[in-house]
Amino acid sequence: MALKEFIAGLPKVELHLHIEGTLEPDLKFKLAKRNGIELKHKTEQEVRDSYSFTDLPSFLEAYYEGMNVLQTSEDFYELAIEYFRRAAKQNVRYVEVFFDPQAHTARGVSFHDVISGLRRAQLEADQNLGVSSQLIMCFLRDFQAEFAMATLLESLPYKEWIVGVGLDSDENGNPPEKFTQVFERARAEGYLLTMHCDVDIPGSIEHIRQVLEDIRVDRIDHGTNIVENPELVQYVVKHRIGLTSCPISNTWVSDTSKVELLVELDKQGVLITVNSDDPAYFGGYIGECFERVAEDSDEVDEAMLTRLAKNAIEVSWAPQGIKNRLREEIDKYVK
Ligand code: HPA
Ligand code: ZN
Repeated sequence: MALKEFIAGLPKVELHLHIEGTLEPDLKFKLAKRNGIELKHKTEQEVRDSYSFTDLPSFLEAYYEGMNVLQTSEDFYELAIEYFRRAAKQNVRYVEVFFDPQAHTARGVSFHDVISGLRRAQLEADQNLGVSSQLIMCFLRDFQAEFAMATLLESLPYKEWIVGVGLDSDENGNPPEKFTQVFERARAEGYLLTMHCDVDIPGSIEHIRQVLEDIRVDRIDHGTNIVENPELVQYVVKHRIGLTSCPISNTWVSDTSKVELLVELDKQGVLITVNSDDPAYFGGYIGECFERVAEDSDEVDEAMLTRLAKNAIEVSWAPQGIKNRLREEIDKYVK
């Protein structure tokens, strides 16, 4: 497929990538051994075979179980540098990396150990791999808002290392408005704001309305159900608010990749981007996600793939200098 080759060489920006979701089975075994942790599964294949998610909660169960092997700053460094190496091979130039501090501090791992390991990998990737990045700290929405607020305060000494905050984990029964005050404070501290509005969640349109009108986020993660409400579509087009869509992830937690919706929203002028979410669990990094977009609709061509890659530059929180350089790089590649 000609588009496959085009995708491979295309310079890419990734905006929806949970670093804990890049934990591949081989690293899981290595860290379990180093930290003296007994794993439920005995082989890498057994681990992979156990991934049979049908919805968000069944995925999250495996995701949280997996990250128990992450204990030290060194572990977080290895997790992240392995991801950056893979990203570099797929021509990823810039990434905004989600991390879930509460999933670690709740197990007794310190905030400092988490962020210092990630930070070390970021500096190395920037210098040696040509992949620059920024961190987005996500709050777990199935915990109380008070825990999120305490985590926000705990992050403040590291503010220079974090560009924004997000909201992830189980959305059922945990609407955005539960975190209104936390996000207000985060904005006051200088963080940019994004929130997950996962696909096909009960009350999805009301959740999208809350993140846009009440919380006033700068971006939405997933959010493709917005197609059901023309007024909200108009709102994101007008305010140039991007959606970080994850086609392969969608196939695991809903009925399809939702690529037909991406095509529809793209036609309506929404700034759609393509991302991998939790590639070690869903079986596809950003290159495979772009391929999935090309496979699942006859309407996708080089021009649309280029537009999607450029949308990610526009709605990213990268410094202007990086944005300009990346745009020039894509223009040169396409020519
Ligand atoms: N949605 C909600 N929580 C998550 C996700 C997601 O896509 N990935 C990791 N945690
Ligand atoms: Zn996600």
